[in-house]
Amino acid sequence: MAQKRKAARNENDNFISPAKRRFYPSSNKEREPANQHAFDPYPPAKVYRLIEPGPVLLVTTGSLVKRTHNVMTIGFHMVIQHESPPLIGISLGPWDASFAALKKQRECVLAVPSVEMAEVVVDIGNCSKDDEELKESSKWERFGLEALPAGKVKAPLVGGEHVIANVECVVEDAKLVPKYGMWVLKPVKAWINPKKKPGEGGKMFHHRGDGIFVIDGEVLDLKNRMVKWQEFQD
Ligand SMILES: Cc1cc2nc3c(=O)[nH]c(=O)nc-3n(C[C@H](O)[C@H](O)[C@H](O)COP(=O)(O)O)c2cc1C
Repeated sequence: MAQKRKAARNENDNFISPAKRRFYPSSNKEREPANQHAFDPYPPAKVYRLIEPGPVLLVTTGSLVKRTHNVMTIGFHMVIQHESPPLIGISLGPWDASFAALKKQRECVLAVPSVEMAEVVVDIGNCSKDDEELKESSKWERFGLEALPAGKVKAPLVGGEHVIANVECVVEDAKLVPKYGMWVLKPVKAWINPKKKPGEGGKMFHHRGDGIFVIDGEVLDLKNRMVKWQEFQD
């Protein structure tokens, strides 16, 4: 019997035992009708809902001194590089007033709000400086936000007890902007709220992409397993 099986294998390099067949379907046709595993198909256009990393951020642009400052909400951003220099990517839609401001000034502030600000942060992301009713005032007034002078850029920091941090940035690279609205930013100065450090009182919130948010939860300390990456654990 064993010899017969071996012979069959030699005859056909693609031999797959019946037991394995459900994991290795022999043709696409066979693969289509039913899942061969426990996963369901998921629309590629919605995968951002699975991996949008968050946290939700505020982006301030314009000039505090000239009173042209604005603020918007973003969920699409990523860390690109730790150092030499540190780099962060943010994706802004060209329809946003903030996009034009960033293009003109090439600097901004990324503020990290804590969960207490979630509702107001969502409201900030649901109106524009270009809206008729905001022409005379600003989102800062409408939402009672505090604009503070930054150290190295003209755009303001976002003040208040529920802001975790502010990161002053300059545009390092705009090559991906025409195609993806992706701005590569270099942080030039950063500020942390000592009472709201992440994991020590400050809880960030993360957009799942469809108006649903998750809040920072339990902290898992696996530093002792990060043997290859000790330089990033201070
Ligand atoms: C939770 C949330 C996340 C958002 N993420 C982004 C984003 O990553 N990029 C973007 O361009 N707009 C994003 N928006 C939409 C902008 O905040 C929105 O277009 C805003 O009106 C822009 O303001 P402005 O026109 O004054 O610049 C988001 C909005 C919300 C509520």
